[in-house]
Amino acid sequence: MRINGRDYRTIWIDDDGRRVHVIDQTRLPHCFETRTLDDSDAAARAIKEMVVRGAPLIGVTGAYGLALAAARDPGDAAIEAAHKKLLATRPTAVNLRWALDRSRDLLLAAVPELRADLAYAEAGRIAEEDVASCAAIGDFGADLIRAAAEKNPGRPVNILTHCNAGWLATVDWGTALAPIYKAARAGIPLHVWVDETRPRNQGASLTAYELLGEGISHTVIADNAGGHLMQHGLVDLVIVGSDRTTRAGDVCNKIGTYLKALAAHHNDVPFYVALPSSTIDWRIADGVADIPIEERDAREVTHIVGRAGDGSIVEAQLTPDGSRARNYAFDVTPARFVTGLITERGVCAATERGLKELFPDLADAA
Ligand code: MRU
Repeated sequence: MRINGRDYRTIWIDDDGRRVHVIDQTRLPHCFETRTLDDSDAAARAIKEMVVRGAPLIGVTGAYGLALAAARDPGDAAIEAAHKKLLATRPTAVNLRWALDRSRDLLLAAVPELRADLAYAEAGRIAEEDVASCAAIGDFGADLIRAAAEKNPGRPVNILTHCNAGWLATVDWGTALAPIYKAARAGIPLHVWVDETRPRNQGASLTAYELLGEGISHTVIADNAGGHLMQHGLVDLVIVGSDRTTRAGDVCNKIGTYLKALAAHHNDVPFYVALPSSTIDWRIADGVADIPIEERDAREVTHIVGRAGDGSIVEAQLTPDGSRARNYAFDVTPARFVTGLITERGVCAATERGLKELFPDLADAA
């Protein structure tokens, strides 16, 4: 997608095919900077510190992290150690485990001399598959937006989204934002309500930055405004992403998603979740009971980062000294509040049957 008129992906490798480059998302929207990941420890740090983030992108970064490890030492012990370290960086998005297991299993089945090349090729394949999946999600989701536009001719379709599930969260296109990009490019008039998404503000910083780059009409709102907008008919549909989807269709996404789903349910606003199949955890059915919820540093709640009047990036304290804070990063939306899942193979009901109809091969393999 576009930054200052130039096309970028979120992760790419050098011409030498070895060094890995990423966009530093902790600096956006105010500074566009890239980082080089020279070894697997650097890849692990980039995931943990959210230089890269978003379920699909951390999966791809994990796979490249394993490739960096194999390039340095292709032995079984080094690969297992890198797998363990990378997996421990973030617990909720299942894409990380999916990509790491896939690469690790492939490498351990090969002779050590071939492992580094195999690992880079596999990471590249995972990245390309993600781009293709997100583009297909965009096409299927754009049909839903087109249908909403046909129901309300003469005015833009109002779509609400939470967090950043755009191209910055994937390799390209995004999940929840891909339908919006495809619809906008097809000339469907639309407007996006962007939840700021406290505490890290991925909506206010990253989603707004992406939409601006694509020239899409949008308005940033406080997280708590969504219910009010829905009550007043100002939201036609909600589209969010997912970090882990159970085989029964429960969806785990950025903290606050569940409250949006409740408000949408109460106001008869369709609530769609866009996800590639790499996000489905076929091993579990009950998201509330079985998905580990990342808890992050309380400082993300007590403090806020932004650009000062002089252009410098500063951090300011919001809470009084001595107040405790907790920082739950994700929540689970039970399947009954989800209108449909937008996947790379089409839109299905958020049910075990719906998912199995689209992905019989993956369900059987699990
Ligand atoms: O903590 P983050 O910024 O990694 O959380 C990202 C999200 O919650 C996204 O909505 C999710 O990964 C789906 S992205 C395509």
